[in-house]
Amino acid sequence: MATTLPGLIGIVFALHLWLAPASLAGWKQVKKEGTLHLATEGTFRPFNYSDEPGPAAGKTLTGFEVELANALAKKLGLKSDWTTRPFDQLLTGLALRKYDLVAASHAITPERAKTVEFINPHYCTGATIVTRAGGPGSLKALAGKTIGVTVGTTYYDRLNAMGRFKEIKVFRDDAEATDNLVGSKIDAWVTDRFVAAAMLKARKDAGLDVSGVLFPEMVAMAVAKGDSELKDKVNGALAALFKDGTYARLSERYFGQDISCKGLGGRRAHGAAQGD
Ligand code: ARG
Repeated sequence: MATTLPGLIGIVFALHLWLAPASLAGWKQVKKEGTLHLATEGTFRPFNYSDEPGPAAGKTLTGFEVELANALAKKLGLKSDWTTRPFDQLLTGLALRKYDLVAASHAITPERAKTVEFINPHYCTGATIVTRAGGPGSLKALAGKTIGVTVGTTYYDRLNAMGRFKEIKVFRDDAEATDNLVGSKIDAWVTDRFVAAAMLKARKDAGLDVSGVLFPEMVAMAVAKGDSELKDKVNGALAALFKDGTYARLSERYFGQDISCKGLGGRRAHGAAQGD
């Protein structure tokens, strides 16, 4: 069927109207409102967590990347408004424009980059294995074992692709995975190396062991696909926080070192990988 020129113009115009509200979201809307709507998971200590029991409450939400994101908002002259969601729902909510920015320790992957715009990385890290004392602390030793990971993580994808384990159990969050490890329901828990270190400290009595780096990751915040104006603003603010010492102060306070991809975080994570 041939479409006439006026018909075509009509279709293009209708499409334009239909797309307009989505493109109004993003930076212009954020600026107008004076508030940056942020989302995180809320149980990934020391990056995003709350000291209150139960679901993380916005008021008490803290952690390295929560403080960093608050500083980003402040640099942009915005108030921050936080929402918490289970990890595997965060990027879907972003695509639906339920919030403007996700700061939940997402590793940059080609898969995820198809659906979101990544900000420049705010830290470099790696996945590690946590076991009960003397447990299978290497990829080789993990063959035929039961491993626990948080739902929707790169740990699940990477381990699943290796296909050499007895079972990969998927948990709501890292606390649940830890409980299963301590309770001998799984042989190992795979998570971020800084999260593992914090958990080992918090549960000294459990006698857990942690391995070296399994594979490195570059971690970044994200905005919705096509939100390039907001992305540019946030990248500019992040660069300013690197420059004015805010980043260094935060990193030092939480980790006693620079975990940026230019600092120790990058060199260590990338230097010590066991490889697949
Ligand atoms: N870095 C891992 C990933 O990208 C885990 C992130 C988990 N984050 C969280 N807030 N629980 O999948």
